[in-house]
Amino acid sequence: MKTRAAVLYEMALPAPYSESRPLRVEELELAPPGPGEVLVRIRAAGLCHSDLSVINGSRPRPTPMAIGHEAAGEVVETGNGVSGLEPGDHVVCAFVPSCGDCAPCREGRPALCEPGAEANNQGVLLSGARRLKKDGTVINHHLGVSGFADYAVIDQHSLIPVDREIPFPQVALFGCAVMTGVGAVINTARVPAGSSVAIVGLGGVGLSALLGAVVAGARQIVAVDVNPSKLELAKSLGATDGVNAAEADAVQQIRSVTEGGVEYAFETAGVVPAMQTAYRITRRGGMTVTSGLPHPKDEFSIPQVTLAAEERTIKGSYIGSCIPKRDLPRMIQLYKQGRLPVDRLLTDTLPLEAINEGFDRLARGEAARLVVTM
Ligand SMILES: NC(=O)c1ccc[n+]([C@@H]2O[C@H](COP(=O)([O-])OP(=O)(O)OC[C@H]3O[C@@H](n4cnc5c(N)ncnc54)[C@H](O)[C@@H]3O)[C@@H](O)[C@H]2O)c1
Ligand SMILES: [Zn+2]
Ligand SMILES: [Zn+2]
Repeated sequence: MKTRAAVLYEMALPAPYSESRPLRVEELELAPPGPGEVLVRIRAAGLCHSDLSVINGSRPRPTPMAIGHEAAGEVVETGNGVSGLEPGDHVVCAFVPSCGDCAPCREGRPALCEPGAEANNQGVLLSGARRLKKDGTVINHHLGVSGFADYAVIDQHSLIPVDREIPFPQVALFGCAVMTGVGAVINTARVPAGSSVAIVGLGGVGLSALLGAVVAGARQIVAVDVNPSKLELAKSLGATDGVNAAEADAVQQIRSVTEGGVEYAFETAGVVPAMQTAYRITRRGGMTVTSGLPHPKDEFSIPQVTLAAEERTIKGSYIGSCIPKRDLPRMIQLYKQGRLPVDRLLTDTLPLEAINEGFDRLARGEAARLVVTM
């Protein structure tokens, strides 16, 4: 069948993308689902900084690639051997397929699935197949999803069924921003009620971490960003303090309002200066959690002695250390109770044709989450 999709042919074209147009929305041939695969009609897909990092070359991936990974849609057809999914089901995509059988999967850490990571690096589905072509040229899949499209063929291990009542743009956000941010607080750090928390970087991931900290019952939540408009949004979502990271004395300001630093600091910007801020504002005995994905060559250094002498912990968090089949239904229930107001993260919806302009807005730090709707 035919489908429209946004294809990246070349990374690192100059911004603004409204002029260089790195994403071409074109008609591709989509093969039918193979064994274990599902044809999904995509209804909404969020613009995440991890997509932007493929476009700007800081997260290199094989091209040409049909990008997009924070997606939700409806099952149209299932391949042989698919279980638990039926045509008409609403689904959200997880951006690492979990095979269920490798060592991390067996330990209950599907975010670290080894065949899943390998398939994502190669730009293939979990089966090793590529189902997209343009005039005979094979197109790579992005994180097993390729969600900026009308239709996608996706492995069943990347799909989680969700409640039909919830609007597709919100469902899409659960697939990446919400699982990553809320999961970092609840699963990776296991923040106890009454803790002091800081979030450094207030995009879709950081604002989700903020919502997670509110749900976890943090007593103090310091929101930190270089963009003052993000600080206001964060305060309206439950942050107790806001500090502009661009100010020269930002670290001192945070250490002062928190009486020596926070117990848990989350880096959710994906740049080394944000990680430095997060580490410096973590108090003695505290934990610094990083969800950001900077360029593979970027390095972060610390005075080693602080780890031992101050009993500090640094932890990485991928997809919020979530088990999607366990955590998504829990988070969606919190959303339905009004305790995880994901609607507030949705800045705007866009048509697929406006995707390059959307990435300009994300790159300028203007948006919490923008979502393309199909
Ligand atoms: N670990 C995971 O599983 C996972 C999942 C999704 C996204 N990510 C990564 O998380 C990061 C954030 O993603 P997003 O979509 O929320 O991004 P975003 O672009 O929407 O938000 C990033 C925010 O960080 C702010 N920022 C930039 N430099 C800063 C600094 N020095 N100090 C404080 N704030 C600063 C920006 O103003 C912006 O508000 C990216 O690196 C992305 O690739 C990781
Ligand atoms: Zn993402
Ligand atoms: Zn696995």
